[in-house]
Amino acid sequence: MGRVAGKKAFITGGAQGLGACFGRMLADEGATVFLTDVNADGATKAAEEINKTYSGAAGSIGHDVTKRDEWETALAAGAEHMGGIDILINNAGIGTFGSIETETEENWRLTQAIDVDSIFTGTQLAMPYLKKSQPASIINISSVAGMIADGNMIAYNTAKAAVWMMTKSIGLHCAKSGYDIRCNSVHPVFTRTPIIDPLIALGGGAEEGEKRLVSQIPWKRLAEPEDVGYCVLYLSSDESRYVTASEFKIDGGITAQ
Ligand SMILES: NC(=O)c1ccc[n+]([C@@H]2O[C@H](COP(=O)([O-])OP(=O)(O)OC[C@H]3O[C@@H](n4cnc5c(N)ncnc54)[C@H](O)[C@@H]3O)[C@@H](O)[C@H]2O)c1
Repeated sequence: MGRVAGKKAFITGGAQGLGACFGRMLADEGATVFLTDVNADGATKAAEEINKTYSGAAGSIGHDVTKRDEWETALAAGAEHMGGIDILINNAGIGTFGSIETETEENWRLTQAIDVDSIFTGTQLAMPYLKKSQPASIINISSVAGMIADGNMIAYNTAKAAVWMMTKSIGLHCAKSGYDIRCNSVHPVFTRTPIIDPLIALGGGAEEGEKRLVSQIPWKRLAEPEDVGYCVLYLSSDESRYVTASEFKIDGGITAQ
């Protein structure tokens, strides 16, 4: 039996990077997964890739997480496809650069809309599904950038810190309401996905850019998507049944300094 056999996971931002990796790793351990993404073709391809090994284990839909009506449609489609939803992984996100002096209001609002507001809306709309499928787990992908700041990431730092605290509020509400629904946040350091390409370019491109990122990490390598995936797998499984309103740093030691 897999560690998440029979579980049904709804994963936003599932077309590539971490979301696609979570889908694959959960399917490897017996879950059914539903990948959603504003990049609908990418989500379809990621689901097809999983279905090559586990026929019918993955579904997908185009879904812009900033749109309430698209959340309603996607959640209904996911529940229909999987026969319910007991894992919600709020993973879709963008990384943005700008300081208090340079950040535009437009970029600020877009970052908050995708990285924070969507988790409020989506989780609120998902609650009836999760309550029907207890025990359930909500996993919010924050970042070490929600815990340590950078002068040139004001919108992203603020958004990821908000996700950290929103997670605790959701977890406490569920616990005190007597729901068997956990809610935890995951805080990766630089992880090898397309989102860090601009950071690598800023640092001088390819090898030089990666070296600069790595030099900030005590463990002396970038995280791989699977390093984060193992934490998500644990939080998805009943192994984490007593764990809620907590934060998990997958950070090679960076926040300990
Ligand atoms: N890779 C890292 O270094 C790192 C570190 C810490 C946290 N994170 C977080 O992990 C999550 C996943 O990032 P990733 O590294 O896989 O990046 P990624 O850019 O590879 O994937 C992000 C996915 O989110 C989707 N997305 C963007 N806007 C969307 C929207 N409005 N609606 C629906 N989907 C949307 C994209 O299409 C993409 O498929 C993000 O929340 C990111 O902030 C990543």
